[in-house]
This record gives sequence, structure tokens and C-alpha cells, in this order.
Amino acid sequence: MLTLVLFSLSSVALSTCVNGAFPPPCDSEIYCAGPILHQVQQAKLFDDDKYFVDMKLRESPDVVLSAFRNLSSEWPNATVPPAELQEFLSAYFEEPGTEFESWTPPDWHDQPKFLGGIANQELRNWAEKIHMLWKSLGRKVETSRAQTH
Ligand SMILES: *[C@@H]1O[C@H](CO)[C@@H](O)[C@H](O)[C@H]1NC(C)=O
Ligand SMILES: *[C@@H]1O[C@H](CO)[C@@H](O)[C@H](O)[C@H]1NC(C)=O
Repeated sequence: MLTLVLFSLSSVALSTCVNGAFPPPCDSEIYCAGPILHQVQQAKLFDDDKYFVDMKLRESPDVVLSAFRNLSSEWPNATVPPAELQEFLSAYFEEPGTEFESWTPPDWHDQPKFLGGIANQELRNWAEKIHMLWKSLGRKVETSRAQTH
């Protein structure tokens, strides 16, 4: 189980890295251009611009864009007021980072046997620190999602 999680963490890191090295031309009408991004930025709903970009869609981009067109057509200048904009985001987007939840491996012990097998004190302290990271860095895919995949 531990190996599996390490692998999936490193594949996330790898894909982030690969995406960073070869940025695809961004043609998303939601995250890179278009009226939703524009109005979210104008309304200054979030302190951090990255926040919106990290929110995942609940519906297909076409549906979200169409719903936004419908919504903005309710105002003469096509500008959705902040409260309605926030409501729209809650309906069609997820909060960032909701696909993972904190997780401590069920077989995690604070003094695992392998630590006792390390003779060098410094190395053992280091290994212990790494081992402790499971508690702060452990993540698993949300139960509801794991079941749908
Ligand atoms: C937008 O409005 C059109 C016309 O009323 C409707 O057919 C369409 O389903 C609406 N889109 C969404 C996502 O609600
Ligand atoms: C759109 O209209 C609203 C209400 O009349 C106004 O408060 C807002 O500043 C306008 N926005 C733009 C971009 O013109």
C-alpha cells in the first residue's frame, strides 16, 4: 500500500513537472480566457488568482459556459454581481484540492521496527523524520471519487 501511494504522489509531481516544462497552449475558454475568468478577476472574489484556476468543473465546459451566458444575460451590461457570481461558482465548480483528503496509513506506527535496525544515530533520526511525514503529507483520493473510478 505504501509503495502504491508513493508512486501516485510521484506521478502527480512528474506530470506537474512535465506540464511545467512543456506548457500546452492554453485554449480553455474557462481558465485562460473568456467571460467567467474575466468577471471573477474583476469582482476580486479571491485574494489569489490561482484559486479559481484550481477549481475543478462539476459539468462539461460547454454546459458551464452556456449556464454562464444564460446567467449574465439577466443583467443589462452582462456583468454578474459578486454574490450571484459566487453562487454560480459554487454550483458549477468545486473548491480547490477537494479531490484529496488527509490520510494516515492504517498500518502506520510511530516506532516502526525498521528504525531500530538503523545503527547510525544520525541516520536513524533522519529516517524517523521522514517516517513522520506520512502523518502530515499522507493523502488519499476522496472515498466518493475512488468508488466512481
Ligand atoms: C441556457 O438557456 C437555454 C435557453 O433557455 C437552455 O436551453 C439551456 O439549457 C440553458 N443552459 C444551461 C446550462 O442551463
Ligand atoms: C454593470 O451594472 C451594474 C449595476 O447597474 C454596475 O454596478 C456595474 O458597475 C456595471 N458593470 C460594468 C462593468 O459596467
